[in-house]
Amino acid sequence: MIKVRIPATSANIGSGFDSLGLAVSMYNYVEVEECEGIHITSTDSVPIPTDENNLIYKTSKYLFDLCGKSLKGLKIRQTNNIPMARGLGSSSACIVSGLLAANQLMGEPLSQDEIINIAAAMEGHPDNSTPALIGGLVTSVLEDKTVHYVKQEIKDDLRFVTIIPDFELKTSLARSALPKEVTHKEAVYNLSRAALMSVSLYSGNYQNLRVAAQDKLHQPYRLKLIKGADRVFDICYGLGAYAAYISGAGSTLMAIVDKKIEGFEEKLRDDLNYLGLSAWQIHSLSIDNIGTTVIIDKETY
Ligand code: HSE
Repeated sequence: MIKVRIPATSANIGSGFDSLGLAVSMYNYVEVEECEGIHITSTDSVPIPTDENNLIYKTSKYLFDLCGKSLKGLKIRQTNNIPMARGLGSSSACIVSGLLAANQLMGEPLSQDEIINIAAAMEGHPDNSTPALIGGLVTSVLEDKTVHYVKQEIKDDLRFVTIIPDFELKTSLARSALPKEVTHKEAVYNLSRAALMSVSLYSGNYQNLRVAAQDKLHQPYRLKLIKGADRVFDICYGLGAYAAYISGAGSTLMAIVDKKIEGFEEKLRDDLNYLGLSAWQIHSLSIDNIGTTVIIDKETY
């Protein structure tokens, strides 16, 4: 059996729309083995497709077809800790696990970079799938089906406080809310901040993160779809966060907080409750600098 552990990811980091992303310490687990037919189960109560429409199965089958190999069928067991349609890379986690499991089952015909390229092409943008695969903070560009990227390991002195609303926000809807064109001024606003975000996170210049997370490409439009988000950002900054931004396409909000700050999550919980947002979850996560791990369980392989 092949056991895959995939981290959640937080894309954009405010200003780096479709180009910056980082992996955090929340994980999905997927166990895969080849068999006759399709047998898909989950270890939790999260509803998942259990037929050929399952994204992990579809992705594995796609890779087998791409490599010209036939797939008898798959037994898949999923543990779904990453909430779906919340901006934490749940679909990337499925794609990455499907690709890595299939590659392993075929005897690893594809390199890591080839997997990175295929995952980004399937997602349409590389900012979730690449950090999900390799961990850390990843700056990437997808051009002509190739991902040009740099991974930077981030020091473990930050908490990524993940604030998950009690409603989904589909990426397709969150993307359809964006304007078709932006001005030259807005483009400069974002590119300077995205560059500042990448290098400041890596170098520990955290005092820059608040300015670096500002953005004019997507957050102003998506904030309207996440009722209460503005207030939550104000609360996070009031409690001393370095930065607060919409994780990926939302609905999750992310606050970057120094590990030395005590009581942030407790006070945030009280404030969310006061705002009537008691159903919103708070998870205190760390950077994941490793990415997806694959273990071969020889007893069953
Ligand atoms: N960069 C993407 C977006 C991430 O913001 O739409 C969502 O998967």
